[in-house]
Amino acid sequence: MEKLIIEGGAKLNGEVRISGAKNAALPILCAGLLAETPLVLTSVPALKDVASTIKLLDTMGVKVLQEADKVTLDASEVGSFEATYDMVKTMRASILVLGPLLARFGSARVSLPGGCAIGSRPVDLHIKGLQAMGAAIHITHGYIQASTLHLPNRRLQGARYYMDMVTVTGTENLMMAAALADGTTILENAAKEPEVVDLAECLNKMGAKISGAGTDVITIEGVEKLSGANHNIVCDRIEAGTYMVAAAMTGGKVKLLNARADLLDAVVEKLRDAGATVTHDDNSITVESNGKLKAVNIRTAPHPAFPTDMQAQFMALNSVAEGVAKVTETIFENRFMHVQEMQRLGADISIDGNTALVKGVEFLDGATVMATDLRASASLVLSGLVARGETVIERIYHLDRGYEYLEEKLTQLGAKVRRSH
Ligand code: UD1
Repeated sequence: MEKLIIEGGAKLNGEVRISGAKNAALPILCAGLLAETPLVLTSVPALKDVASTIKLLDTMGVKVLQEADKVTLDASEVGSFEATYDMVKTMRASILVLGPLLARFGSARVSLPGGCAIGSRPVDLHIKGLQAMGAAIHITHGYIQASTLHLPNRRLQGARYYMDMVTVTGTENLMMAAALADGTTILENAAKEPEVVDLAECLNKMGAKISGAGTDVITIEGVEKLSGANHNIVCDRIEAGTYMVAAAMTGGKVKLLNARADLLDAVVEKLRDAGATVTHDDNSITVESNGKLKAVNIRTAPHPAFPTDMQAQFMALNSVAEGVAKVTETIFENRFMHVQEMQRLGADISIDGNTALVKGVEFLDGATVMATDLRASASLVLSGLVARGETVIERIYHLDRGYEYLEEKLTQLGAKVRRSH
């Protein structure tokens, strides 16, 4: 199994280009199912989750052409409306085909995701929202079986739906379904994440009539058909945030190209509180630090508050900062899997319920650790970059799900990182 070996102590300096966002690419690839003519996407990151989504679309009959970061999807001859357990268990985001399949073809069979490393993560709101639009849904043999065949013209019906929790993929699934529904859908308490906005922009280019994306009320006037379009995927704010923390922790100066500070307000504020200097223009962010950081309290919450996908990285930062920090996770239960591994590197962290108390230590010491999920793995990389000696990170396939060209980018910035097979 592949490992990442990091020799700690190098300051990161230079420029790095941020990729297109994984969490925008996945729903937008699934939106390709809605279009009758080809959808052309650029800045699609070369990630394992993207490859899994393309494979899933391929099993349904979507013709996919990939040329570097450009992906063309032709969904004119879709013949299967199913996402099997084997697909969904490797990537929960496979649930994002449910709304598009049902809206366009009137039928979908998608496996329930089941448990995952960071908590139970149900999809009840996706299902209830589609039911509010008139879909008949049965859960049998671990599958969501959905149909609109009983509805007039087999079309979902516009509806007003209040989501009692803020859900990112739930909002995306329902927005895609509503785009082809008969009538107007109003989604209340919608997720405001930039990736939801990017999906809405892409859908509007395809002919959808969506307004309010980026606020907590999204209005979707259903249309009869959607066609292809050209869309460039928004930059990955979590990848950007991870390199920003890397620059701050190692005490270097890094300029991120293709990065938007306006999508990272909460992260920028915390980095400044920690003592780093952050400057930006419209399309780049520069982080500079002397490596001496102060502990910062973190509380995760839906956008625009501090993202749960940056929690583990700030745990790493706090583990070597001066002082004591409280890190509270409010989105997912059980998202502290990195703590045990960071303790193996010498971090002083104790957990009480959904809060971790992190006491900064002077040094971390390299050790062999195991990646458990995507962002947990990122925290181990960050820790390894500042630890004394060598850190070996096992099970790095988690990192390949979300960080494009990780070793190459880190090496370009001066880190001593290599992959061993
Ligand atoms: C998305 C992101 C993930 C990020 C998360 C929170 C993608 C592909 N993934 O995941 O990187 O960490 O948002 O920002 O975009 N919930 C329910 N019922 C539902 C749906 C969700 O109870 O039907 C709960 C979840 O268990 C969780 C919370 O709502 O506690 C938020 O989850 P959600 O926003 O849905 O996360 P994902 O969309 O899966």
